[in-house]
Amino acid sequence: MILAIESSCDDSSISITKIDTLELIFHKKISQELEHSFYGGVVPELAARLHIEALPKILEECEEYLPQIKAVAVTNAPGLSVTLTEGVAMAKAVSIALNIPIIAVNHLKGHIYSLFIEKEEKFPITVLLVSGGHTQVIEANSLDDMQILAKTMDDSFGESFDKVSKMLNLGYPGGPIIEKYSQNGDCNRFTFPIPLSQSPKIEFSYSGLKNAVRLKIDELEGTSLESQDISDVCASFQKTAVDHILQKLKKLFKQKTIKDFAIVGGASANLYLRRELEKLCSSYGTNLHLSDLKYCSDNAAMIGRVAIEQYKNKDFINIEDLDIKTRLK
Ligand code: KG4
Ligand code: ZN
Repeated sequence: MILAIESSCDDSSISITKIDTLELIFHKKISQELEHSFYGGVVPELAARLHIEALPKILEECEEYLPQIKAVAVTNAPGLSVTLTEGVAMAKAVSIALNIPIIAVNHLKGHIYSLFIEKEEKFPITVLLVSGGHTQVIEANSLDDMQILAKTMDDSFGESFDKVSKMLNLGYPGGPIIEKYSQNGDCNRFTFPIPLSQSPKIEFSYSGLKNAVRLKIDELEGTSLESQDISDVCASFQKTAVDHILQKLKKLFKQKTIKDFAIVGGASANLYLRRELEKLCSSYGTNLHLSDLKYCSDNAAMIGRVAIEQYKNKDFINIEDLDIKTRLK
């Protein structure tokens, strides 16, 4: 069995997965959303302190499995430095205590492997990763052969939801909140420009849309911002944010034949995005793969799933070489 630890942002999570059957036999996550909600976003120092409390609590629950653990895996990049450090420190301690090797896992590969939890991996696949830190299209041929085809030039898709939610004082994380308000809103009431719609390049940008929404909120606040206005702003913003993705993916689908496509990452839980991508994929004869809703946001099950492949490749890291990286090339 492999014990995996995830603490790259505001979720403390540990999983235990069987190496030969891929069975997930233990998985727990303690989310800090409530604590950060008060500040309208993740406060790194607070997140680190909460990991120090939560990770050992979860580890205690795994005690019965510890004699069977063959390796300890941990997210070491990318993420917040002070929170990654907590997971890495615990992994080093577990490695010493149990005398087992350490596996350093790339968080973004973890999101891709959320598609394969308790399942065999299936490549090649083209993946849209939409999270709080990233918006990327990745061509994945295997664990070690992945190319970034497109990415955001500024804010990420999930981050733009967090920022719009903050502007409207609706709380954190913004994604699920904006999605909920949008259900009662008119997505055609406000017209926000679709980012980069004139550009032939396949890349993303969310800062201009965020500013357009800010101007509209300022204008509405000048009169009065009623609850229906809030829902309409949310729905119009969400539609534009998704339309931007659809426009760029259409360009990609026209350029190359894609048999298997997937969306992963925290924001891939957005049901409107899922529905629109289902339509797009079916019009191009592309199979759409989705991870289970419970594995979209950060979790240790996906980290453990990557780690099984690395274990088979004997891709271990020396304790003295294991460090964190906040960004990756
Ligand atoms: O993957 P994740 O848990 O953490 C990162 O690796 O960043 O993604 C969190 C992000 C947040 O920005 C959150 O607002 C967004 O995913 N998110 C959503 C939804 N649920 C979470 N964005 C849009 N719609 C949602 N339903
Ligand atoms: Zn993530």
